[in-house]
Amino acid sequence: MSDTIYPKFHVYGPKGWINDPNGLMFYKNHYHVFYQYYPDDVHWGPMHWGHAVSEDLRHWDYLEPALCPDAQDDGCFSGSAIEVEGKLYLIYTSFTNRDGVIRQQQAIAVSEDGIHFEKKGLIITSDELPEGYLKEDFRDPSVTKDADGYLMYTASRKENGKGRILVYKSKDLFHWTFDRDLFEKDSLGTMIECPDKVGDVLTFTEQFFPTDVDGNNNIHASRYILKDRNGCFAYENASALDYGFDYYAAQSFKEKNILIAWMSMWDRSFLSEKDGYAGELTYPRVLEIENGELIQKPFLLKEDHFVDIPFAKNQKIHCRSGIIHFSFNDLESLEMRFYEDEEKYAKLTLIGDELVFDRSRCEQVSFKETDANSLMGIRKMPVNLSKKSHESYLVIDHGSVEIFFDGKTLSSLLASNSKGGLIEIDCVASEGKIELLNI
Ligand code: FRU
Repeated sequence: MSDTIYPKFHVYGPKGWINDPNGLMFYKNHYHVFYQYYPDDVHWGPMHWGHAVSEDLRHWDYLEPALCPDAQDDGCFSGSAIEVEGKLYLIYTSFTNRDGVIRQQQAIAVSEDGIHFEKKGLIITSDELPEGYLKEDFRDPSVTKDADGYLMYTASRKENGKGRILVYKSKDLFHWTFDRDLFEKDSLGTMIECPDKVGDVLTFTEQFFPTDVDGNNNIHASRYILKDRNGCFAYENASALDYGFDYYAAQSFKEKNILIAWMSMWDRSFLSEKDGYAGELTYPRVLEIENGELIQKPFLLKEDHFVDIPFAKNQKIHCRSGIIHFSFNDLESLEMRFYEDEEKYAKLTLIGDELVFDRSRCEQVSFKETDANSLMGIRKMPVNLSKKSHESYLVIDHGSVEIFFDGKTLSSLLASNSKGGLIEIDCVASEGKIELLNI
């Protein structure tokens, strides 16, 4: 019998490679999560849409891929889903490479049961791009309803330029007209990917983003913008969406304000390759805007029963898969250690006004990163210490930890096959509370 320990309540590719979450939709009483999937290898290849369904966002059934490469598409790249008159539509990027000519164009597929999908062809060809945008970098359509019909945000790139988000409009999902270039200026990263609008929040990722800007330490950054007073998304207002090692290509269940991302990153080696799979998605996060700030909390069920754990200066908690909730008043110091085994552990330490996450003592992951923090195995998340009380959650699922602190998040893989599950907490605060939910 294999001793592989897979994630227990996170979506992952049971076999092969996965990257971005796609087409998140609550349809016919089930949460549908599609994802970029290559079943035949632990490395990226011709893209399928893998498909998992759940009633509670914790127990997942894996179905047959919803979209596969064929005569029409050499790959089915990222996209979104929308329900219209009881049918589920997937709007994705058709990637083709014919004799070295690369095209990325937007396409649609439809289903009446949410399981079997029929491709219906292209809906925006690369020839319909406005003048000066690259036909080979036009992808990741995110469709939402608006007052007059439908809006689509897609990623694109200017010739001799950098990333852009293009907005299209449609009355019927099949015929689209170009509306505008959202920022009307180049991104800092070389290319934007996976724009997604949920209410007043726009999330997107940027390839090859400068590592010294906005607390970002990853080669490729995930960012968000809140709508400003004029109802605009201004590029200058973008901030980091997550501060961890492993976070990219977020997308949301738009009606539910719930966000899921790929809990990995391009240009990395995966420890789980040896176990025959590479990649998993983050645990779902509920988005709220409080006092003009984006607050992320782990998704909880009404019936979740957290058990109190005494709040002591040194506390040991055993949890291999579950959620731990902390609240602290007048926090003076904090260190948490997450053990893979007796020798290998990651730690999170409050240093000045930052939480510093250090996984240099974990099983080695090979990086191709450039900045000093990454190479030392460190990530940092800012903390507002002028607040009296702080709320934190840890979401732990075998080899991963997602740290929530006052609504900001830091997500990282520690190991595959981790037998760990011991968390040691050293904390000085005037008051505190710890509660545990085993999953
Ligand atoms: C983002 C991304 C998308 C693309 C997909 C291909 O991670 O590069 O832009 O659609 O992955 O798998």
